[in-house]
Amino acid sequence: MKALILVGGFGTRLRPLTLSVPKPLVDFANKPMILHQIEALKAAGVTEVVLAINYQPEVMLSFLKDFETRLGIKIVCSQEREPMGTAGPLALAREILDDGSGEPFFVLNSDVISEYPLTEMIEFHKTHGGEASIMVTKVDEPSKYGVVVMDDETGQVQRFVEKPQIFVGNKINAGIYLLSPSTLEKIELRPTSIEKEVFPKIAAEKKLYAMVLPGFWMDIGQPRDYITGLRLYLDSLRRRNPGMLATGLHVVGNVVVDETAQIGEGCLIGPDVAIGQGCIIESGVRLSRCTVMRGVRIKKHACVSGSIIGWHSTIGQWARVENMTVLGEDVHVSDEIYSNGGVVLPHKEIKSSILKPEIVM
Ligand code: GDD
Ligand code: MG
Repeated sequence: MKALILVGGFGTRLRPLTLSVPKPLVDFANKPMILHQIEALKAAGVTEVVLAINYQPEVMLSFLKDFETRLGIKIVCSQEREPMGTAGPLALAREILDDGSGEPFFVLNSDVISEYPLTEMIEFHKTHGGEASIMVTKVDEPSKYGVVVMDDETGQVQRFVEKPQIFVGNKINAGIYLLSPSTLEKIELRPTSIEKEVFPKIAAEKKLYAMVLPGFWMDIGQPRDYITGLRLYLDSLRRRNPGMLATGLHVVGNVVVDETAQIGEGCLIGPDVAIGQGCIIESGVRLSRCTVMRGVRIKKHACVSGSIIGWHSTIGQWARVENMTVLGEDVHVSDEIYSNGGVVLPHKEIKSSILKPEIVM
């Protein structure tokens, strides 16, 4: 089976992290986002993944080469000369996706996280007999997504409306599709949107079916959602694979700690924290609802909550970092500094407090 991951886009909403790496390579729960997807695809029987990309393909490929052999899956890039939207890349990769076997292929948005019930989706696709399957999930604020109106019994989609201005329903497109090769005939080789041009057409032909996604779902393409996504992901890990979570007197709730990270005396860590490879957390540190990426040092008695600390940054002793602070790669926060929602570009030194949410260039 084949799969295509829509990797394009500049990830502007996840800056400053995406100033260092393309969005799919930003770590989430100690693993680049895209690896969560590639592993799930592999587990569902996918043997070849196409990365539809419109910038920096070298960075992605050199990173993923390692995983090709480790996971035993073929990974290729399909590079666009100009952004082709969410459907154009499928036409561009047509030769690979339609290998003549008639087998459906997966298409994934690169910034969504879930339990990826892909095997269930294959079953669903086989039973409804339509042309395309999409996963949907319920959200409180549907207007920033693609909204799907469907028959709850059969799953048949009646309408697909991308980013509706008025309320049409609360089931939204989760960005996970399984498409039969015949859908490729409906997609032209030009910049075009699968949500605005292709799905409405297949829905009108009554060949589009939706399956309500079991388990959690989140688009983690912006910091607040990224932090919420980590909580949901760790909750789900607690149910599916609790052995992956940290234990000990210093741990509260769900926490993942890379085995190479060091944690000092008298720390209190959690809930909803991820600590990456090689991190050094000195004594008396308090961490909650945050991600601490590879190579970070947090000095004595510092307190970090509701924030993302980018690769190889340091937080000084007694510092307090909170309220959606996002530090880019290699940022150094001096001792006793307070950051209230600072968004700090890579390689900066922070020597005075950031009292209200703002971007520090
Ligand atoms: N290769 C390529 N080329 N990929 C692209 C391009 C492009 O020109 N434009 C966007 N993408 C990729 C993005 O990287 C992302 O993985 C995916 O396509 C969707 O684009 P987003 O920019 O993240 O769209 P969105 O979040 O506003 O909306 C989409 O996702 C929602 C779920 O999170 C839509 O699919 C909605 O219908 C959906 O509900
Ligand atoms: Mg998105």
